[in-house]
Amino acid sequence: MAQDLGLRVWDPVNNMKVLVVGSGGREHALCWKIAKSKMVDEVLCAPGNAGTALVARNVALQATDVERILAVVRRENVGLVVIGPETSLDVGLADTLREAKVPVFGPGIKGARLESSKVYSKDLMERHRIPTASSRTFDRSGAAKGYLENCDTWPQVVKADGLAAGKGVYVCQDLEEGRSAVDAIMEEKRHGSSGTRILVEEFMEGQEASVFAIIDGRTILILETVQDHKQVGEGNKGPNTGGMGVLSPMGEINTRLHRQIEQRVLIPTVHAMRQEGIDFHGVLFVGLMMTEGGPRVVEYNVRFGDPETQALVRRWKSDIVPVLLACAQGELEQVSAPEWDGRPCVGVVAAAGGYPDEYRKGDLISGLRQAEEVDDVVVFHAGTAEKDGEIVTAGGRVLCITAMGTDVDAARANAYEAYDKIRWEDKFARRDIGKVVVAEAPKEASAHVDES
Ligand SMILES: Nc1ncnc2c1ncn2[C@@H]1O[C@H](COP(=O)(O)OP(=O)(O)O)[C@@H](O)[C@H]1O
Ligand SMILES: [Mg+2]
Repeated sequence: MAQDLGLRVWDPVNNMKVLVVGSGGREHALCWKIAKSKMVDEVLCAPGNAGTALVARNVALQATDVERILAVVRRENVGLVVIGPETSLDVGLADTLREAKVPVFGPGIKGARLESSKVYSKDLMERHRIPTASSRTFDRSGAAKGYLENCDTWPQVVKADGLAAGKGVYVCQDLEEGRSAVDAIMEEKRHGSSGTRILVEEFMEGQEASVFAIIDGRTILILETVQDHKQVGEGNKGPNTGGMGVLSPMGEINTRLHRQIEQRVLIPTVHAMRQEGIDFHGVLFVGLMMTEGGPRVVEYNVRFGDPETQALVRRWKSDIVPVLLACAQGELEQVSAPEWDGRPCVGVVAAAGGYPDEYRKGDLISGLRQAEEVDDVVVFHAGTAEKDGEIVTAGGRVLCITAMGTDVDAARANAYEAYDKIRWEDKFARRDIGKVVVAEAPKEASAHVDES
């Protein structure tokens, strides 16, 4: 008998440690979901926040400190690393880990370029005939302004090439706005070196939608839909933010539109990556415009969205770890598709007064326990920290209160009931999350695909 011989079974796969890299609401949601997995013994989070500390062991490391992260992965014998933020991908964390033979969910530097350089991704789309806005690239402000002077259709969209935390895109209604956008990016260098080059893009008319797909280089696994709410103000008014709330699933995307997105965007993008030598293991999050001519790409992101992930993990019923691990190892076709909770999920972001501009930090947060006692509510932390045993605000987007319900109204009611139980000075949220009408297939687009 095994017992008599003093043998023991060591099954590394089912006693796995998983490291989640990042410190936002997305990472708390990933830690929360991964910690439920039967395969997982312990979740680590680098650096994490006060919420991840509830479900994972925080490791005090910067999310871009490649050397130290590798050291921890080796010391702790981590079996899977899941990378949250684009900044970690852009410094090559995934490449380094992969060279060290560590299974990692997240693309390398080459794949990360799809998000970190809008010029690069535009060129790739053009080379591979993936539908997107037509555009011109400039590395001198004079040439860009000269081009705008000759434009006779407005608006025009001026974009900084590099990462700009969602603030590098200017939709310009006329020449004057166009000129000042070019100046802001190239002369005032508002986005630093991200604005060394710019794109001037055709304005696409239509509704926006985003699609998340897990890709292992060959297999594409499309996830449930999520609608974000980018603007700070109700009715989608005011400046853009990292995201003020989410609804999943988003209104009806009919099957025909789904097929168009798959056939015209996702499959060509994976083909393009392969031809460009990008071995992509992670999430591709495609921003789309539903135009009269069908779906066209606004941009690529190469990581989970925040706060979209918070809603996705609430609705993801089956174990997430087999999918993340299979993606990391290029075996996605061998896992079964996720099981989804059919009920909708609403996520309301509670932000610090002043956000997205200057905001305060260090305010005491109370009522978290009471909030989680509301039916079907889970509160994910984004900008929080622990101070003398209490939880305080530490970022602009502080919490994301997620709630399920039998229908969207029930989910909304639960989310706002929980939100109202949470207190700190100057907290605010949009009251209309889940109420905004969302994209549907334009009729012309449907007709168009039948002809082609
Ligand atoms: N060509 C375009 N036509 C119309 N709107 C656009 C266009 N490009 C960008 N936008 C608008 O600007 C927003 C931000 O642009 P995006 O390319 O997604 O950059 P980022 O998310 O990096 O700031 C989009 O969500 C969309 O609302
Ligand atoms: Mg975007």
